[in-house]
Amino acid sequence: MNSNAPGWDLLIINARVAAMIDGADKIHSDYAIAIRGASIAWLGPTNDLVGSPEESADKVINAQDQLVTPALIDCHTHLVFGGHRAAEFEQRLNGVSYEQIAKAGGGIQSTVNATRACSDNELADLAEKRIACWLDEGVATIEIKSGYGLDLATERKMLRTARRLGERSPLTTVSTFLGAHTIPAEWKDNPDGYVEEVISMLKVLHAEGLVDHVDAYMESIAFSAEQVSRVFKVAKELGLPVKLHADQLSSGGGAQVAANFDALSADHVEYTDQQGAEAMARSGTVAVLLPAAYYTLRESTPPPIDLFRKHGVPIAVATDANPGTSPTLSLLTSMNMACTLFKLTPAEVLAGVTCHAAAALGLDDRGHLSIGARADIAMWKVNTPAELCYWLGARPLKHLICGGELAR
Ligand code: NIG
Ligand code: FE
Repeated sequence: MNSNAPGWDLLIINARVAAMIDGADKIHSDYAIAIRGASIAWLGPTNDLVGSPEESADKVINAQDQLVTPALIDCHTHLVFGGHRAAEFEQRLNGVSYEQIAKAGGGIQSTVNATRACSDNELADLAEKRIACWLDEGVATIEIKSGYGLDLATERKMLRTARRLGERSPLTTVSTFLGAHTIPAEWKDNPDGYVEEVISMLKVLHAEGLVDHVDAYMESIAFSAEQVSRVFKVAKELGLPVKLHADQLSSGGGAQVAANFDALSADHVEYTDQQGAEAMARSGTVAVLLPAAYYTLRESTPPPIDLFRKHGVPIAVATDANPGTSPTLSLLTSMNMACTLFKLTPAEVLAGVTCHAAAALGLDDRGHLSIGARADIAMWKVNTPAELCYWLGARPLKHLICGGELAR
């Protein structure tokens, strides 16, 4: 290598690049991206490279005909859990509703029982196997919620598992404390007492360095606006950003509560109204759409996409992977569903799993390709965002780069 060569570690050439900084539908053809260490060192037209690619970098990948995007980000999952709920799936097929199952002691509580019964290693093994599916689909950052413990020991076990996954795999994991997921059986007669317990768990787990964000489930079968606000007030005092499961099954003003606390995101948002959308726009709260949960529950009220567009609310798309309402291991499937069920454009969906998903996690170093950004990059065997969203089960990933390292 000559002494004037830039000395990059990796150089991708001849790619079709969706950088996600100059509009989601802008594709740069014949582009090159250079990586040094964990960051992007340069990007621009392949023709603008000074010197030959081989002289410029230790390794060169020719991405002829490949779409290259920021690595995908799944900003809403519950992928650490024990057991499964296929029996409830059958009950729902026979006409029993999600709410009825929850009220009868099933639903989230049945996964709480199974998760409490798992050892640390069992829980980690289950999650580790699942997480391989995200890597296979070009995901480099994943949010993981607790909320199937609902007691201190099991919430801690879940959050430690999430951290361990991040340490042991090339993925970045973001840990969200969801103690306010449902009222566990042993607190059924004292819901407000449980809210106090959530607050005390939050303080302990935060002190142990296990919490990045705080979430809650605001719904008639879960927590009220007042109860959520009590938890969020403490989260904010601790300096932790919040996000909210809002307006999923009914319109309860969840979007406004999220906006009042400057939430990073309000998620589900099927029943969010005009006031809610306006409040989210003012607070910069991202609307995270979860079409696989909508599909699984066979819902019929889609989120108010036009309101979000009109008011400039950023839209993200995520899996909501969980054993009850979204038994999926595939973000690409959720991307297809966001188009088919919610009529998002493929460009909106791509923004929803890259730059807007990063915003929903409060991360500004990824979700876009620019000099200095983290080198989390997905290379695809397809060449347009539409084709990425169009196939089902196609395994379109060619390569995944996480923090500058080739992970797939
Ligand atoms: O995002 N809505 C609440 N939480 C999950 C469902 C969890 C479950 O049923 O286990 C959701 O849909
Ligand atoms: Fe969820």
